[in-house]
Amino acid sequence: MAIRVGLVGVGFMGKTHADIYLKNSKAQLVAFCDQDAKKAAGDWSGGGGNLGDAKDKAFDPKSLKSHATPEALFADPNVDLVDITLPTYMHAKYVIKALEAGKNVLCEKPLSTDLKEAQAVVAAAKKAKGKLMVAQCMRFWPEWEWLKEAVATKRYGKVHSAVFRRFASTPTWTWDNWILNAKLSGSALFDLHIHDTDFVRFVFGEPKAVFSRGNGGKATKSGIDHIVTSYVYPNKSLLVSAEGGWNADPSYGFTMRYTVVFEKATADFDLGRADKVLQLHKAGAKEAEIIKCRASTGWADEITYFVECLEKNQAPKVTTPQDAARSVALCNAEMKSVKTGKVVPFKP
Ligand SMILES: NC(=O)c1ccc[n+]([C@@H]2O[C@H](COP(=O)([O-])OP(=O)(O)OC[C@H]3O[C@@H](n4cnc5c(N)ncnc54)[C@H](O)[C@@H]3O)[C@@H](O)[C@H]2O)c1
Repeated sequence: MAIRVGLVGVGFMGKTHADIYLKNSKAQLVAFCDQDAKKAAGDWSGGGGNLGDAKDKAFDPKSLKSHATPEALFADPNVDLVDITLPTYMHAKYVIKALEAGKNVLCEKPLSTDLKEAQAVVAAAKKAKGKLMVAQCMRFWPEWEWLKEAVATKRYGKVHSAVFRRFASTPTWTWDNWILNAKLSGSALFDLHIHDTDFVRFVFGEPKAVFSRGNGGKATKSGIDHIVTSYVYPNKSLLVSAEGGWNADPSYGFTMRYTVVFEKATADFDLGRADKVLQLHKAGAKEAEIIKCRASTGWADEITYFVECLEKNQAPKVTTPQDAARSVALCNAEMKSVKTGKVVPFKP
């Protein structure tokens, strides 16, 4: 039987996830909850963002059970998996409630912006009957998975340097504009840059310290709109950095990139380069090799992975709740470094 899914929060990311469930034969979207009366009544039009929407014309949200509150959805015996795509500041509270109700839970990143809160979720997940996965989608993005494997196998030798970049225009679509309130979203640091923070940890392990510079004030009054971080590793010749911000001109849209210099090759990924997103410049080769990975996204593949874990009754290993909390901890260290202007040790 398909894994029956209840979606909580039908905004930009909720609709992106809904679209993915509709195409996944092992999952069935059965219920949802949104505080917005129009959406609750089954009209999901509007909102959006720069990355996706529920596009299946044959799909009618009115065919789903609409719950008045998240708690009512958690009590629904027809739901096996609760997918939390609520604003960031609600994640921890509702993940814990869903776990306590015995559900499996997928929660959008970041788990929280507050480390203690994130650790409380980890503790709740340890006790729970259901399984929890935080949607750290870069770990599942095909060309980023390729990079993880290339680094781990040392196929092109050791890594000299890795630079990650993620730029967006200021988000304008969110409910009540919660995203531009730094207290609620953690600003660009936790909303955008955490993707690279988490991926750096995934590929290179825990850094021993971070040095970050950042600025704010344009999009968010008291948060970080743009950040540049050096991750300090015990191996002094390994240079790893990430830069992210959401102050780009509206005409710029969104991009993510990496450039990784190995001993025997240089890998370069640029989302904006159409069908040539991943190029590998090998020592001695006249032209860059175009690396073709499976045509998918990290959002689809993380959901496929979690649904398969649930089918097999296996705890997800690619990303654990503890991993998600550690990425929150590392972002907090980056924040401290921005505020103090100092190198901040990281002891997860
Ligand atoms: N992985 C990614 O690439 C990615 C991209 C965008 C957003 N996100 C994350 O997804 C989460 C949601 O972001 P978004 O852009 O979809 O926000 P959004 O504002 O578009 O959507 C939030 C939805 O939650 C609903 N909601 C608010 N309070 C509620 C409540 N108490 N009960 C029920 N519904 C409620 C709102 O009405 C809205 O429809 C954030 O944590 C964000 O960081 C992840």
